[in-house]
Amino acid sequence: MKSFSRFFSYLGQDIAIDLGTANSLVYVRGRGIVLQEPSVVAVNQKTGQILAIGKEAKKMVGRTPAHIVATRPLVKGVISDFEVTEQMLRYFIDKVYKKKLLIGPGPRVIVGIPFGVTEVEKKAVLDAAYSAGGREVFLIEEPMAAAIGARLVVQEAGGNFIVDIGGGTTEVAIISLGGIVFAKSLRVAGDKLNEDIIYFAQEEYKIAIGERTAEAIKIGIGSAYATGREKKELPLRGRNIVTGLPEEITISADAVRKAMEKSVRQIINEIKIAVEETPPELLADIMTNGIHLAGGGAQLAGLDVLITKETKIPTNIVEDPLTAMVRGAGLVLENLDELRDVLVETDSLEPPK
Ligand SMILES: Nc1ncnc2c1ncn2[C@@H]1O[C@H](COP(=O)(O)OP(=O)(O)OP(=O)(O)O)[C@@H](O)[C@H]1O
Ligand SMILES: [Mg+2]
Repeated sequence: MKSFSRFFSYLGQDIAIDLGTANSLVYVRGRGIVLQEPSVVAVNQKTGQILAIGKEAKKMVGRTPAHIVATRPLVKGVISDFEVTEQMLRYFIDKVYKKKLLIGPGPRVIVGIPFGVTEVEKKAVLDAAYSAGGREVFLIEEPMAAAIGARLVVQEAGGNFIVDIGGGTTEVAIISLGGIVFAKSLRVAGDKLNEDIIYFAQEEYKIAIGERTAEAIKIGIGSAYATGREKKELPLRGRNIVTGLPEEITISADAVRKAMEKSVRQIINEIKIAVEETPPELLADIMTNGIHLAGGGAQLAGLDVLITKETKIPTNIVEDPLTAMVRGAGLVLENLDELRDVLVETDSLEPPK
């Protein structure tokens, strides 16, 4: 019996997908994470043809001729361009399966969605995953998946506080007994911090910089709190918007922190409001268990320190925060019988069989 079921699971290997605003990841049951690429698609607008997806497409951002656009099919965590999203999903699934899918059923697919998206948005993700080749599609709320990926005990009565800071959204969730007790989603996260740096460079130094430069500055010397980072400054190259000529200046860690201050404050306030709204019994658990930070934005230097200081609750960054969500969704796949309850109810959205 055992080898029989193994045979079938091989035919339709199950996969978990984190379709993020900034990065997409794919986890294959029994194999782990097999793909991690930027959620970028380069399209030739004259022909409608897709030229590149993922890493290749990201290289093109801001460098393409006018008729080639490198777009992100997801904005603030939700699908903004259905067709391109579907193609991106199909590309990821095909890349993982190569020729295997020519025979046999497609894989079972579990896809993460932000908490609190509308039924229409859920259906868009579901439909995209089916038309990209999924045999059976499940949805999971991203904070729930991130909590499972962080190995928090989500099915017992203790409270778990998770904050997922991605590219498009910051999601704060309190999880207990296998469900989200309450959650908040803020459309301020890593990408907004990049925009802040772009704006700051323009206002302060009259220098126009692109998104990739801004992100490199943020990761290189950005911080939420003065943590005494050694590398205190970086060169910033762009175009002077007055003279139109290239220019290089030096930007300091303090200036970058100031540029991002308002957005960081919004993230902190969101977390504080969630703490204030937590029922007392759960708050007691959370004071013991702490606040867990996941997502790429969690890695902003000093953010954990600032959150601890502002909430008086010990805060830690989960191991490998960028992959926590997809690893959690993968764990659900591996243990579907025990963990089915944590999935999003989608019966009413399923396509007719
Ligand atoms: N070391 C770092 N310091 C600060 N920010 C970082 C660091 N590494 C990555 N990031 C930021 O993390 C963000 C991407 O995180 P992640 O991949 O979790 O987002 P996502 O899942 O694609 O987005 P979302 O969940 O909002 O749809 C980007 O804005 C990136 O700049
Ligand atoms: Mg995410």
